[in-house]
Amino acid sequence: MSEARKILVTSALPYANGSIHLGHMLEYVQTDMWVRFQKLRGNQAIYVCADDAHGSAIMLRAEKEGITPEQLIDGVRAEHMADFADFGVNFDNYHSTHSDENRELSAAIYLALRDKGHIATRAVTQYFDPDKGMFLADRFIKGTCPKCGTDDQYGDNCEKCGATYSPTELKNPRSAISGAVPVLKESQHFFFKLPDFEAMLKQWTRSGALQEAVANKIAEWLDGGLQEWDISRDAPYFGFEIPGEPGKYFYVWLDAPIGYMASFKNLCARRPDLDFDAFWGKDSTAELYHFIGKDIVNFHALFWPAMLEGAGYRKPTGVNVHGYLTVNGQKMSKSRGTFIKARTYLDHLNPEYLRYYYASKLGRGVDDLDLNLEDFVQKVNSDLVGKVVNIASRCAGFIHRGNAGVLVTANPEPALWEAFQVAAPSIAEAYEARDFSRAMREIMALADRANAWIADKAPWALNKVEGKQAEVQEICALGINLFRQLIILLKPVLPNLAAEAEAFLNVPALTWDDLSKPLADHQLNPFSPLLTRIELPKIEAMVEASKEDLAAEASKPAGNGELAKDPLAAEINFDAFAAVDLRIALIEKCEFVEGADKLLRLSLDIGDEKRNVFSGIKSAYPDPSKLEGRLTLYVANLAPRKMKFGVSEGMVLAAGPGGEEIYLLSPDSGAKPGQRVK
Ligand code: 2FM
Ligand code: ZN
Repeated sequence: MSEARKILVTSALPYANGSIHLGHMLEYVQTDMWVRFQKLRGNQAIYVCADDAHGSAIMLRAEKEGITPEQLIDGVRAEHMADFADFGVNFDNYHSTHSDENRELSAAIYLALRDKGHIATRAVTQYFDPDKGMFLADRFIKGTCPKCGTDDQYGDNCEKCGATYSPTELKNPRSAISGAVPVLKESQHFFFKLPDFEAMLKQWTRSGALQEAVANKIAEWLDGGLQEWDISRDAPYFGFEIPGEPGKYFYVWLDAPIGYMASFKNLCARRPDLDFDAFWGKDSTAELYHFIGKDIVNFHALFWPAMLEGAGYRKPTGVNVHGYLTVNGQKMSKSRGTFIKARTYLDHLNPEYLRYYYASKLGRGVDDLDLNLEDFVQKVNSDLVGKVVNIASRCAGFIHRGNAGVLVTANPEPALWEAFQVAAPSIAEAYEARDFSRAMREIMALADRANAWIADKAPWALNKVEGKQAEVQEICALGINLFRQLIILLKPVLPNLAAEAEAFLNVPALTWDDLSKPLADHQLNPFSPLLTRIELPKIEAMVEASKEDLAAEASKPAGNGELAKDPLAAEINFDAFAAVDLRIALIEKCEFVEGADKLLRLSLDIGDEKRNVFSGIKSAYPDPSKLEGRLTLYVANLAPRKMKFGVSEGMVLAAGPGGEEIYLLSPDSGAKPGQRVK
């Protein structure tokens, strides 16, 4: 075998201010399958990642939750790591961009760029929130669209008419953070001189490092002329201060990709066999691949290689770009229950189902991938359960009952065995090229052949014929060996199934080389069903729970929601406030909702009517009966929401950061159910 390759692989670093959902998971599963394939082939593949922990969004969210940014990012990182581990995403290291390694590398890279003349400084005039004392990024400014006059639009584009503009063109601008009228203010900014690298980028982007469609898109940008890139932000900012420039911070996108290096460096400290320079040095012979989504191509295929080149490091071997995930043909939607968090999926379904489905649909291109939930059920049940696992279930019993679990030495159909051997290199080629859908098609074609042969031989019928038992053992020995071949071929996609199959086969961890070495005269372990069919109700429950997540989110007290585009409610006029039908309600009955983790059902008396409300406050009220008889505040004219458990009519009001700390609001004594709040 040729010498093992050294390969360093990354996925994009998720922001440390939100949960991982199935759209994110597409990328991590794609990368993980590719890395696992490389490891199975005997290559030294190292997969690193980290949370992307900096930026004003994270700073503001921590502030709203009343915690430090460090507390926020530590909690989110732990949640992310658990989600990845449970989806079988096997990082060699998972770090944070808010780390010592990243601080040192970011400073060193910046200083190298500065010393080589690639950093410029100049004054920039920007909107500043005088109440909050901070400069406002475009998404933190709202106002009236200068083109169509629609109110409440963001500082860079209008959602109504699609116009793009600069924040200074917006009419009646307001800070979306404090509501204050922003003022224009000047400040010194630092720029990375990207145009210095134009010739290198023209060459590198056409060197085979990018998919053709991506290289073509970048060629358009390159032809349009490169701009200097603003890499600094003013305090207050959660990030790294720029060396020698008090009050100036690196923009989050400057230190984020350096986080790839930092995570690897952190790993090197624990792994003496790894040498940082052997992977990142200018003369490195290792391969370096970044897996990313198509929305962040400019950062990875322009800024990043230029930064690496300018600071004296190697450039990526490849930037592998994938498309977006849609669910049932549409953008993931919270109200349809198709905005599915990784954890919600895991609460209902086996992660390997989704890994297989993604594999079966992932090609090498940048097309979007649709998770069609019906097709998902059908494909997993038919391929994994009906074709792959079925082979083992058909054969194992005969070997256990007829030969004490010992698989005999036999190859009753050499042509079939040979067909598997011949197919393996093409499947390896498909994996290598990230053409997972082709790999899955070719593997399932082999599974079809194996099943057809077993069906033709019908060991179940033969076993009843006097004197044919030895033949049955030979048929089943080949059947189990073909099952073992399929497991090796699928191991990058289905690591848990492979581990269970290895336990049944009574073999050490299988590698790609084992494809050419059949089991012979070998004791098997007892067989138990390796994978069960997906049942439709599980899918329905997952979709409903995703709607429930939304309801819990919506009923969370202010300040604890995910940082939406609008970080704090902008000012409203009195009419808007008066439109809310806010009343005193008496909680007549309060109970758990069967099958809901976060909700309580409240039966309310609102004076002239009774109302039924689901509220995501269960974590704070483990004994719901204690709420019975209590008065609270209630929004009576919120549009009813249909949920799995019934219709929720309106919302009760509470405060606090969440978890056990949710405090239902109550009026002073004397208030009566039905009274309007004014
Ligand atoms: O777009 C994102 O979610 C970013 N957090 C990705 C960063 S990738 C890398 F450059 F750090
Ligand atoms: Zn407009």
